[in-house]
Amino acid sequence: MMDFRLAMVSLMFVALTTAHSQTEPQSKSTFNGFDLVDKAGNIGKPKDFRDRYPTLGSYMVLDPKGNQMHITYSSPGAAEYYRKNGKFADGTVLVKEVFGTEHAQMTTGDANWASGTKVWFVMVKDEKGHFPGNPLWGNGWGWALYKSDAPDKQVATDFKKDCLGCHIPAKGTDWIYVQGYPVLGAK
Ligand code: HEC
Repeated sequence: MMDFRLAMVSLMFVALTTAHSQTEPQSKSTFNGFDLVDKAGNIGKPKDFRDRYPTLGSYMVLDPKGNQMHITYSSPGAAEYYRKNGKFADGTVLVKEVFGTEHAQMTTGDANWASGTKVWFVMVKDEKGHFPGNPLWGNGWGWALYKSDAPDKQVATDFKKDCLGCHIPAKGTDWIYVQGYPVLGAK
């Protein structure tokens, strides 16, 4: 009888600890965007960002030549860190995916949706200035661009020419247009 009870208790213990380890969230501090970067500072596009990176938010750009949806994803834990510390953690990766749009009259009204990726912009937070001589690194970030005709080929040559001019209005928020990302604010 005693043995049976002991067995039941240890079984329950096993069941409880197994359940616990299954619900435990994956450690977020292990994420390091520099895993995407080689020794020379070339930035690789994160292949699995649609599965692993939460959406930070989106911008819709109305343009007579064709409307666009911009969806920005961030590496795991980025928003949580930002809310706590008011800045992006070293090694944070942001991916902005630019889509065209389609629209139709739906039960909500004239509904527009993202359709067909055009380009991907990638940024890697670099607090330490790892690549001082590399024209794709500076102002606290690595900057990269990929186009859908060759999705894995990085095509930006100089962030000062290709990126910075357009990001000057966001200088006060570390070059990032944070106003479009409600998840960075209070819950
Ligand atoms: C034509 C102007 C323009 C150029 C050129 C440009 N950006 Fe941006 N970028 C913006 C604007 C404006 C936003 C936010 C609003 C939006 O997406 O429409 C943005 C957003 C982003 C985001 C999402 C985070 C954020 O700041 O909101 C990333 C990542 C990004 N840009 C990277 C780059 C990189 C890397 C380059 C150069 C290869 C680049 N951008 C060139 C204007 C530009």
